[in-house]
Amino acid sequence: MKAKILITGGTGYIGSHTAVELIQAGYEVEILDNLYNSKREVLGRITGITGVEPKFHEVDLRDLAAVRKVLEGGEFQTVMHFAGLKAVGESVEQPLRYYENNVGGTINLLRAMVETGVKQIVFSSSATVYGEQEVAEYDETMTTGMKLSNPYGRTKYMIEEILKDVATSDPEFRATILRYFNPIGAHPSGLLGEDPNDKPNNLMPIVMKVAAGEIPELSVYGNDYPTEDGTCVRDYIHVVDLAKGHIAAMEKMGGEQIQIYNLGSGRGTSVLEMVRAFSEASGRALPYKIAGRRAGDLPEFYANPGKAERELGWKTELTVADAMNDTLNYLRKSCGVEI
Ligand code: NAD
Ligand code: WQD
Repeated sequence: MKAKILITGGTGYIGSHTAVELIQAGYEVEILDNLYNSKREVLGRITGITGVEPKFHEVDLRDLAAVRKVLEGGEFQTVMHFAGLKAVGESVEQPLRYYENNVGGTINLLRAMVETGVKQIVFSSSATVYGEQEVAEYDETMTTGMKLSNPYGRTKYMIEEILKDVATSDPEFRATILRYFNPIGAHPSGLLGEDPNDKPNNLMPIVMKVAAGEIPELSVYGNDYPTEDGTCVRDYIHVVDLAKGHIAAMEKMGGEQIQIYNLGSGRGTSVLEMVRAFSEASGRALPYKIAGRRAGDLPEFYANPGKAERELGWKTELTVADAMNDTLNYLRKSCGVEI
């Protein structure tokens, strides 16, 4: 057995897929989550895929004493920190809740790590920290924290800065910051996927609801952007590729105290191309209408993933078409959707 890893937010969408990859790579995994946006049954799904049931701590990161208890005696080598709230629009309406949960929760986690001598953290950051830039291809050398359009993005930026300060205070502390682009898809087993308790905000969970007949049609937010077909372009990354990126990044820790990597494919796909890809995978046209622009959306951005490839030997292997097939498989197998 390799080292023991604590996954905060490990019953959530990306955390659960990463738990599977870690277990399959031979790591021992424990999960901490308050189940705000995920379900306990995910633990059984992880066991179904891996044959191993991870130890689970139903704990809220805002509860310092409870977090400390998990860390004490846990002998964790690394914490992978996924837990957080992520709805951009909601963060505009409830900024204090977002700062309290995401920034406050992370401060508690770091405090408990410092107190218990856990020195490594891998943090789920986001391409959103780049804000609005002059170019569409983002690389890690670009400025962050400027022209951010919402409090959610600012929580990610602030946490990145906090991690740098903690590193300055302790030469043994290591943090790897992973800036995800747009995660999509599901585990190929059909047992794990994106299943939020909250109202979905991102494109794919909404597409899934349209496919399931729970929403009549997708509203495509704007077709008058300066892109090829007028709809916004994003860099969609399969969640299994993303999960593997975490392991590659963690296994490289030990050198520079702060490491930062974009995790994306380097390819842009428009909203209408996404609609077409889902329709092709399902064999049925996905109903959609063109709606007005959504506030805060940028026309186009995608990753320059070169640094992760050079330094971690990691790049995406799966395509948008793979993600669509895996999403459909998950809808059919785990959500009872006939499509
Ligand atoms: P998710 O909502 O599925 O998972 C997050 C998990 O954290 C949930 O299970 C939730 O219950 C838990 N959680 C939230 N607040 C908590 C708290 N105070 N204490 C304990 N648990 C708490 O989201 P996800 O898509 O898996 O995202 C994981 C991480 O990646 C988040 O930090 C998110 O901001 C970041 N991220 C996500 C995306 C995306 O598009 N999905 C993109 C970039 C970054
Ligand atoms: C994708 C595209 C929409 C819904 C957000 C966060 C970012 C990161 C990922 C966490 C956009 C369009 C969407 C719909 C649509 N999250 N769309 N109709 O906005 O690129 O990024 O999630 O860190 O920080 O900002 O992702 O999935 O919301 O949208 O037309 O009903 O789909 O306009 O072009 P986004 P998204």
